[in-house]
Amino acid sequence: METDKLTTARAIMKGFTVLPTVPAAAAKAIRLLNEDDVDMGAVADVMLSDQVLAARVIRIVNSPLCKVMGQIQSVRQALVYLGPQRVFEIILTSCFLEVTDTNNRSPLRIQDCWEHAFGVGLVARRLAESIGYPQPEKAYVAGILHDVGEVILSQHRRQEYMRAMVLAKDEGIDLYDAEVRVFGTSHAEVGRLLGEQWNFPQEFVEVISLHHDSNLGVLPPLTLLVALADRFCIGVGLSSMGEQNTNKILGCADAVRLMQEHLPHVGSCDFDSLMISMEGLTDEVSCAVESIYS
Ligand SMILES: [Fe+2]
Ligand SMILES: [Fe+2]
Repeated sequence: METDKLTTARAIMKGFTVLPTVPAAAAKAIRLLNEDDVDMGAVADVMLSDQVLAARVIRIVNSPLCKVMGQIQSVRQALVYLGPQRVFEIILTSCFLEVTDTNNRSPLRIQDCWEHAFGVGLVARRLAESIGYPQPEKAYVAGILHDVGEVILSQHRRQEYMRAMVLAKDEGIDLYDAEVRVFGTSHAEVGRLLGEQWNFPQEFVEVISLHHDSNLGVLPPLTLLVALADRFCIGVGLSSMGEQNTNKILGCADAVRLMQEHLPHVGSCDFDSLMISMEGLTDEVSCAVESIYS
C-alpha cells in the first residue's frame, strides 16, 4: 500500500512541467555551511548576492522569529553573529517561502500554509526544548518543511486538489485522507520525492514522509516531535485550510493527550510548564507571518 502511494506520487510528479528548485545561491551557501571550517562572512556574502534570497533573509532576520538583533547594525553582521546552525535554518525557511511564493497557483491560501508551517516549526522547537532534544533548531526547520509536498501538489494539480479540499471540509476528514482518496497518494509521498531530489538531509525527508503515520509510537524522535506539533497546530486553528476543518478532525485536547502519551518515550518533560509556554502561540505565529508576508 505504501509502495503504491509512492509509485503514484512518482507518476504524478512526472507530469509536473516545471519543478521548483532551490535557488543557486542558497545551494552554494548550504555547501559552504557544510565545510569543516565555516567562513560565515563568505556564507553571508553568497546569500546577499542573490536579490530574492537577500530580500527574504532580511525579512526573516528582521521578523520576530529572530529575536537577537538588538545592537546589530547590518544583515551581514547579523548572519555572522547568528552562526551556521541558525543561518542554515534561515536558508531553508527562505527556500520554503520561495516555493510557496513563486508562480503560486495553489487553491490553498498561502498565508494559511505559512502560518501552519511556522506554527508547527515553533511548537516542534518548544517540544524539543522541553524534552532536552539535542538540536531544537532542527525540529524548527523540520516543522517549517514538513508539508512542502502539500504546496507543490496543490499548485500542480489544482482542480483535483480543490476536490480534496471540498471533501475534507464536507466530510470533516483530514486533508491528508482526502488527498489519498482523490489522488491515491498524498503530500507526504510527493514531499518525500522532492526532498530527495533537493538533497535534503535524510532526517528531514523522514519527517516529510512519515508525519501522518498514525502509529506515533514507532516514529523516530524528530518525526514524532513534528507529528505532535502538526496535530496541535491543526487543533488550535493553525491549519493550511485556515480554521475550516479545525476541531472536526482532531481537537487541541486530543493533541495534548497524544503529547502526554508519547513525549515521555523520547525524553522527560515538565508538561505543565510546556503548556504554559504554548499560550499566546497563535498570536506569535500570526505576528511573525504578518511581518514576513506583508
Ligand atoms: Fe502534512
Ligand atoms: Fe502539517
